[in-house]
Amino acid sequence: MFHTTFYVRRLHSLCGLLVLGMVLFEHIFTNSMAILGPQGLNTALEMMELIPKPIFMGLEIGGIAVPLLFHGIYGIYIAMQAKNNPCNYGYIRNWNFALQRWTAWFLVVFLIWHVGYLRFYVKGVTGTPISFELLQNFFQSPIVVVLYVLGMFAAIFHFCNGITTFCMTWGITKGPRAQSIISIISMGLCAALCAITLIFMGSYFVY
Ligand code: HEM
Repeated sequence: MFHTTFYVRRLHSLCGLLVLGMVLFEHIFTNSMAILGPQGLNTALEMMELIPKPIFMGLEIGGIAVPLLFHGIYGIYIAMQAKNNPCNYGYIRNWNFALQRWTAWFLVVFLIWHVGYLRFYVKGVTGTPISFELLQNFFQSPIVVVLYVLGMFAAIFHFCNGITTFCMTWGITKGPRAQSIISIISMGLCAALCAITLIFMGSYFVY
Protein backbone atom coordinates (compact mmCIF):
# COMPACT_ATOMS: atom_id res chain seq x y z
CA MET A 1 0.00 0.00 0.00
CA PHE A 2 2.81 2.39 1.02
CA HIS A 3 4.71 1.52 -2.14
CA THR A 4 1.71 2.08 -4.41
CA THR A 5 1.13 5.57 -2.96
CA PHE A 6 4.85 6.33 -3.22
CA TYR A 7 5.09 5.37 -6.90
CA VAL A 8 1.78 7.00 -7.92
CA ARG A 9 2.95 10.25 -6.28
CA ARG A 10 6.27 10.07 -8.11
CA LEU A 11 4.43 9.47 -11.40
CA HIS A 12 2.16 12.45 -10.63
CA SER A 13 5.26 14.58 -10.05
CA LEU A 14 7.04 13.44 -13.26
CA CYS A 15 3.86 13.86 -15.27
CA GLY A 16 3.41 17.47 -14.02
CA LEU A 17 6.99 18.56 -14.66
CA LEU A 18 7.98 16.75 -17.84
CA VAL A 19 4.80 16.05 -19.81
CA LEU A 20 2.53 18.96 -18.79
CA GLY A 21 5.55 21.28 -18.59
CA MET A 22 6.35 20.53 -22.24
CA VAL A 23 2.69 21.10 -23.18
CA LEU A 24 2.76 24.47 -21.39
CA PHE A 25 5.98 25.56 -23.18
CA GLU A 26 4.62 24.47 -26.58
CA HIS A 27 1.39 26.34 -25.87
CA ILE A 28 3.15 29.56 -24.86
CA PHE A 29 5.49 29.30 -27.86
CA THR A 30 2.67 28.78 -30.40
CA ASN A 31 0.47 31.48 -28.85
CA SER A 32 3.35 33.97 -28.75
CA MET A 33 3.32 33.87 -32.58
CA ALA A 34 0.32 36.23 -32.22
CA ILE A 35 2.93 38.93 -31.50
CA LEU A 36 3.76 38.76 -35.24
CA GLY A 37 0.11 39.41 -36.08
CA PRO A 38 -2.64 37.33 -37.72
CA GLN A 39 -0.29 35.78 -40.28
CA GLY A 40 2.24 34.73 -37.64
CA LEU A 41 -0.26 32.83 -35.49
CA ASN A 42 -2.25 31.41 -38.40
CA THR A 43 0.92 30.04 -40.06
CA ALA A 44 1.95 28.37 -36.77
CA LEU A 45 -1.52 26.82 -36.41
CA GLU A 46 -1.57 25.69 -40.06
CA MET A 47 1.82 24.02 -39.61
CA MET A 48 0.35 21.89 -36.82
CA GLU A 49 -2.41 20.83 -39.20
CA LEU A 50 0.32 19.37 -41.46
CA ILE A 51 0.96 16.64 -38.87
CA PRO A 52 -0.88 13.49 -40.14
CA LYS A 53 -4.27 13.14 -38.37
CA PRO A 54 -3.59 9.76 -36.63
CA ILE A 55 -0.27 11.04 -35.22
CA PHE A 56 -1.87 14.32 -34.13
CA MET A 57 -4.74 12.48 -32.40
CA GLY A 58 -2.25 10.09 -30.77
CA LEU A 59 -0.25 13.07 -29.44
CA GLU A 60 -3.39 14.83 -28.20
CA ILE A 61 -4.64 11.73 -26.37
CA GLY A 62 -1.36 10.15 -25.18
CA GLY A 63 0.67 13.34 -24.72
CA ILE A 64 -1.98 15.69 -23.31
CA ALA A 65 -5.38 14.16 -22.38
CA VAL A 66 -4.21 11.07 -20.45
CA PRO A 67 -1.37 12.80 -18.51
CA LEU A 68 -3.61 15.81 -17.76
CA LEU A 69 -6.49 13.62 -16.54
CA PHE A 70 -4.16 11.53 -14.37
CA HIS A 71 -2.32 14.57 -12.94
CA GLY A 72 -5.57 16.53 -12.50
CA ILE A 73 -7.62 13.77 -10.84
CA TYR A 74 -4.84 12.57 -8.54
CA GLY A 75 -3.99 16.25 -7.92
CA ILE A 76 -7.56 16.91 -6.69
CA TYR A 77 -7.12 14.00 -4.26
CA ILE A 78 -3.82 15.48 -2.97
CA ALA A 79 -5.25 19.03 -2.78
CA MET A 80 -8.22 17.82 -0.73
CA GLN A 81 -5.84 16.49 1.91
CA ALA A 82 -3.81 19.74 2.14
CA LYS A 83 -3.93 22.02 5.17
CA ASN A 84 -3.24 25.54 3.82
CA ASN A 85 -1.90 27.84 6.51
CA PRO A 86 -0.42 31.02 4.97
CA CYS A 87 -2.17 33.29 7.52
CA ASN A 88 -0.95 31.31 10.52
CA TYR A 89 2.69 31.35 9.54
CA GLY A 90 3.11 33.73 6.62
CA TYR A 91 6.39 32.33 5.32
CA ILE A 92 6.87 32.53 1.55
CA ARG A 93 7.05 28.75 1.35
CA ASN A 94 3.69 28.37 3.10
CA TRP A 95 2.16 30.90 0.72
CA ASN A 96 3.63 29.05 -2.26
CA PHE A 97 2.28 25.76 -0.89
CA ALA A 98 -1.23 27.26 -0.57
CA LEU A 99 -0.98 28.96 -4.01
CA GLN A 100 0.07 25.64 -5.57
CA ARG A 101 -3.26 24.17 -4.32
CA TRP A 102 -5.41 27.23 -5.12
CA THR A 103 -4.04 27.44 -8.68
CA ALA A 104 -4.73 23.69 -9.02
CA TRP A 105 -8.42 24.26 -8.15
CA PHE A 106 -8.64 27.22 -10.52
CA LEU A 107 -6.99 25.18 -13.30
CA VAL A 108 -9.57 22.39 -12.96
CA VAL A 109 -12.37 24.86 -13.78
CA PHE A 110 -10.38 26.89 -16.32
CA LEU A 111 -9.11 23.87 -18.29
CA ILE A 112 -12.61 22.31 -18.50
CA TRP A 113 -13.89 25.62 -19.97
CA HIS A 114 -10.85 26.25 -22.21
CA VAL A 115 -10.53 22.71 -23.67
CA GLY A 116 -14.31 22.11 -23.66
CA TYR A 117 -15.08 25.30 -25.60
CA LEU A 118 -12.14 25.72 -28.02
CA ARG A 119 -11.11 22.09 -28.67
CA PHE A 120 -14.38 20.17 -28.28
CA TYR A 121 -17.05 22.70 -29.22
CA VAL A 122 -15.46 25.16 -31.72
CA LYS A 123 -12.97 22.79 -33.41
CA GLY A 124 -14.74 19.46 -32.82
CA VAL A 125 -18.49 20.15 -33.01
CA THR A 126 -18.67 23.18 -35.32
CA GLY A 127 -15.55 22.21 -37.31
CA THR A 128 -14.25 25.82 -37.25
CA PRO A 129 -10.44 26.06 -37.37
CA ILE A 130 -8.86 28.11 -34.58
CA SER A 131 -7.34 31.31 -35.99
CA PHE A 132 -6.13 34.76 -34.89
CA GLU A 133 -9.43 36.28 -36.08
CA LEU A 134 -11.51 33.77 -34.11
CA LEU A 135 -9.53 34.44 -30.92
CA GLN A 136 -9.65 38.20 -31.50
CA ASN A 137 -13.43 37.93 -31.66
CA PHE A 138 -13.48 35.73 -28.54
CA PHE A 139 -11.41 38.33 -26.65
CA GLN A 140 -13.93 41.10 -27.36
CA SER A 141 -15.32 40.37 -23.91
CA PRO A 142 -13.14 41.88 -21.13
CA ILE A 143 -14.33 39.10 -18.75
CA VAL A 144 -12.97 36.43 -21.13
CA VAL A 145 -9.65 38.31 -21.40
CA VAL A 146 -9.30 38.60 -17.60
CA LEU A 147 -10.18 34.90 -17.09
CA TYR A 148 -7.70 33.84 -19.80
CA VAL A 149 -4.87 35.92 -18.33
CA LEU A 150 -5.66 34.51 -14.86
CA GLY A 151 -5.80 30.95 -16.31
CA MET A 152 -2.38 31.38 -17.94
CA PHE A 153 -0.88 32.98 -14.80
CA ALA A 154 -2.28 30.12 -12.68
CA ALA A 155 -0.80 27.45 -15.00
CA ILE A 156 2.56 29.27 -15.15
CA PHE A 157 2.82 29.76 -11.36
CA HIS A 158 1.67 26.19 -10.70
CA PHE A 159 4.32 24.84 -13.09
CA CYS A 160 7.18 27.12 -11.94
CA ASN A 161 6.57 26.60 -8.22
CA GLY A 162 6.29 22.91 -9.17
CA ILE A 163 9.92 23.02 -10.37
CA THR A 164 10.99 23.96 -6.81
CA THR A 165 8.85 21.26 -5.14
CA PHE A 166 9.91 18.70 -7.78
CA CYS A 167 13.58 19.32 -6.94
CA MET A 168 12.82 18.75 -3.24
CA THR A 169 10.67 15.66 -3.86
CA TRP A 170 13.38 14.03 -5.97
CA GLY A 171 16.23 15.04 -3.64
CA ILE A 172 17.88 17.27 -6.29
CA THR A 173 18.06 20.28 -3.93
CA LYS A 174 18.94 19.03 -0.44
CA GLY A 175 20.04 22.05 1.63
CA PRO A 176 18.15 25.31 2.28
CA ARG A 177 20.62 27.30 0.11
CA ALA A 178 20.10 25.10 -2.95
CA GLN A 179 16.34 25.25 -2.38
CA SER A 180 16.37 29.06 -2.17
CA ILE A 181 18.44 29.34 -5.36
CA ILE A 182 16.10 27.07 -7.37
CA SER A 183 13.09 28.91 -5.94
CA ILE A 184 14.48 32.29 -7.10
CA ILE A 185 15.24 30.87 -10.58
CA SER A 186 11.72 29.35 -10.84
CA MET A 187 10.05 32.60 -9.80
CA GLY A 188 12.22 34.45 -12.36
CA LEU A 189 10.99 32.04 -15.04
CA CYS A 190 7.42 32.57 -13.76
CA ALA A 191 7.77 36.36 -14.14
CA ALA A 192 9.25 36.00 -17.66
CA LEU A 193 6.50 33.63 -18.88
CA CYS A 194 3.77 35.86 -17.38
CA ALA A 195 5.29 38.88 -19.19
CA ILE A 196 5.32 36.95 -22.53
CA THR A 197 1.66 36.03 -21.91
CA LEU A 198 0.69 39.67 -21.35
CA ILE A 199 2.53 40.67 -24.54
CA PHE A 200 0.86 38.04 -26.77
CA MET A 201 -2.57 38.71 -25.23
CA GLY A 202 -2.01 42.41 -25.96
CA SER A 203 -1.44 41.59 -29.65
CA TYR A 204 -5.18 40.94 -30.11
CA PHE A 205 -5.82 44.62 -29.33
CA VAL A 206 -3.06 46.02 -31.55
CA TYR A 207 -3.79 44.34 -34.91
C1 HEM B 1 -5.78 20.04 -13.97
C2 HEM B 1 -5.55 20.65 -12.87
C3 HEM B 1 -4.38 20.36 -11.98
C4 HEM B 1 -4.45 19.91 -10.70
C5 HEM B 1 -5.72 19.58 -9.92
C6 HEM B 1 -3.09 19.82 -10.18
C7 HEM B 1 -2.73 19.48 -8.89
C8 HEM B 1 -1.46 19.45 -8.38
C9 HEM B 1 -1.12 19.26 -6.99
C10 HEM B 1 -2.08 19.07 -5.85
C11 HEM B 1 0.25 19.28 -6.91
C12 HEM B 1 1.11 19.13 -5.63
C13 HEM B 1 1.60 17.71 -5.51
C14 HEM B 1 2.40 17.46 -4.25
O1 HEM B 1 2.53 18.32 -3.40
O2 HEM B 1 2.92 16.34 -4.13
C15 HEM B 1 0.75 19.49 -8.23
C16 HEM B 1 2.09 19.54 -8.54
C17 HEM B 1 2.58 19.86 -9.78
N1 HEM B 1 1.85 20.18 -10.91
FE1 HEM B 1 -0.18 20.15 -11.05
N2 HEM B 1 -2.22 20.17 -11.18
C18 HEM B 1 -2.96 20.51 -12.30
C19 HEM B 1 -2.47 20.95 -13.52
C20 HEM B 1 -1.13 21.09 -13.83
C21 HEM B 1 -0.60 21.60 -15.08
C22 HEM B 1 -1.46 22.10 -16.26
C23 HEM B 1 0.77 21.57 -14.98
C24 HEM B 1 1.80 22.02 -15.98
C25 HEM B 1 1.70 23.11 -16.64
C26 HEM B 1 1.11 21.04 -13.69
C27 HEM B 1 2.39 20.87 -13.20
C28 HEM B 1 2.74 20.47 -11.93
C29 HEM B 1 4.10 20.33 -11.43
C30 HEM B 1 5.38 20.58 -12.21
C31 HEM B 1 3.99 19.94 -10.08
C32 HEM B 1 5.13 19.69 -9.10
C33 HEM B 1 5.43 18.22 -8.92
C34 HEM B 1 6.28 17.95 -7.68
O3 HEM B 1 6.18 18.67 -6.68
O4 HEM B 1 7.04 16.99 -7.72
N3 HEM B 1 -0.06 20.75 -13.01
N4 HEM B 1 -0.30 19.59 -9.12
